[in-house]
Amino acid sequence: MGRFLANFCRLLCFCFLFFSFVSGARELADDRQHAMEMRPLMPTSKSTPLITNQGPGSQLAQNQSKDRSLVSLPFGGPKLSLQPIGADNYVVTVGFGTPKRDLTLMFDTGSATTWIQCKPCINCYELEEPIFDPSQSSTFSNSSEQYTQKYHDKSYASGYFAHDALTMDTYEVKDFEFLCAHNTGGFFGEVAGLLGIGLSDNSLISQTFLNFLQLFCYCLPPTENSSGFLVFGITAATTCLPQFGTPLISDPDGYNRYFVNLVGITIGNKTLQISSNDASSLRNTIIDSGTRISRLPPSVYSELRSSFNKLMSKYPVAPNSSLLDTCYNLQGYDQSSIIPSMILHFDNSVELNLDHNSVVLSETDYKVCLAFAEDTETIIGSYQQRNVNVLYDIVDKTVGFSAGSCGN
Ligand SMILES: *[C@@H]1O[C@H](CO)[C@@H](O)[C@H](O)[C@H]1NC(C)=O
Ligand SMILES: *[C@@H]1O[C@H](CO)[C@@H](O)[C@H](O)[C@H]1NC(C)=O
Ligand SMILES: *[C@@H]1O[C@H](CO)[C@@H](O)[C@H](O)[C@H]1NC(C)=O
Ligand SMILES: *[C@@H]1O[C@H](CO)[C@@H](O)[C@H](O)[C@H]1NC(C)=O
Ligand SMILES: *[C@@H]1O[C@H](CO)[C@@H](O)[C@H](O)[C@H]1NC(C)=O
Repeated sequence: MGRFLANFCRLLCFCFLFFSFVSGARELADDRQHAMEMRPLMPTSKSTPLITNQGPGSQLAQNQSKDRSLVSLPFGGPKLSLQPIGADNYVVTVGFGTPKRDLTLMFDTGSATTWIQCKPCINCYELEEPIFDPSQSSTFSNSSEQYTQKYHDKSYASGYFAHDALTMDTYEVKDFEFLCAHNTGGFFGEVAGLLGIGLSDNSLISQTFLNFLQLFCYCLPPTENSSGFLVFGITAATTCLPQFGTPLISDPDGYNRYFVNLVGITIGNKTLQISSNDASSLRNTIIDSGTRISRLPPSVYSELRSSFNKLMSKYPVAPNSSLLDTCYNLQGYDQSSIIPSMILHFDNSVELNLDHNSVVLSETDYKVCLAFAEDTETIIGSYQQRNVNVLYDIVDKTVGFSAGSCGN
């Protein structure tokens, strides 16, 4: 609790400093290549001129944004709905350009470049919604800086960096830098692009630093029919009620991912013995929205599996399912009273509690499999993050978990 108060005070102080020294910040912002200018959007409607007058296109708003005047700075931060797509991915809807075009983007904590498919598309996959046409946006500007974003699964997006307005909820990020992709390939399904919330100098998180304080939180929806959220800034702190967090470690491979130190695992009432060898691989645990099933080093996984098997020894085993090799047939049993819960322990005594729904994956109504797998990398996957509020505080370099507020 002390830590929470300290963090909250830090935020208040930060805001106070920010508002007090906004003119200084403004000069600083003008120097920064990716500095953002933000203003709240009022609802606009052609049939109600009174509102249109206060809208983003009005003289007043334009003058304010030119001045970057204090009153135009929004307090809070955007809240976006996060929808599941397929088993493994989540999408958000944001607006690009002026007038804004709503586009559905894949949400990714594991990369930092935000891109959309842009006309002219030389080699793009088909979309149901029309591909973004820069010539239709009055605020678009192009650069000649070429870039290819590659992903682990050999997917890629290639094009030129560009700037345009990015609208998230009712907030408009002016001059947002993103990749306008003219060539794409791989596994992006039906999405128009990708929203990268990993860390880098020109990531969304860095570009919105002055307004959203490098503070964001998400809650991954627990079922295909529920929706989660992605929220930035002060709104992230008020929505996700920060506990104290575990330290974020910089990515040892120099990518843009979020690493933490996993120090222990409890299943049922047993805490696994972790060798010093394994401890060093757990020290580089990735929190990833793009991997579904959490991964553990082979010997840790094997100890987890045997503890799980011990606790489940009274029940009939079921065949393996691809990645998952520890399955049971629980037909006729009450799963919630049988399946053990787990606790993942992180540095700084931070715990992620997993109830039976996150410990096993239900293949059918009665077949359940331990929802962990072995790998060379240690990863906290999206399945174990469902319905958890995961709050990232990049300034404080921490990530905290609290009971999710996006359940059904
Ligand atoms: C906006 O600025 C222009 C000149 O820059 C001025 O003529 C106009 O009155 C201003 N409008 C408002 C609403 O302040
Ligand atoms: C951006 O500029 C490059 C060349 O500098 C060009 O090939 C590309 O088509 C341009 N993109 C858009 C969307 O105008
Ligand atoms: C989700 O909704 C669809 C359509 O309404 C339904 O068929 C399906 O059973 C639901 N799934 C869950 C897990 O509730
Ligand atoms: C842990 O669980 C085992 C098996 O269910 C039980 O025998 C033991 O009493 C428990 N220990 C504690 C400390 O709860
Ligand atoms: C499942 O896979 C594990 C590990 O590969 C193996 O030990 C086990 O025998 C398999 N179980 C079944 C039912 O195939």
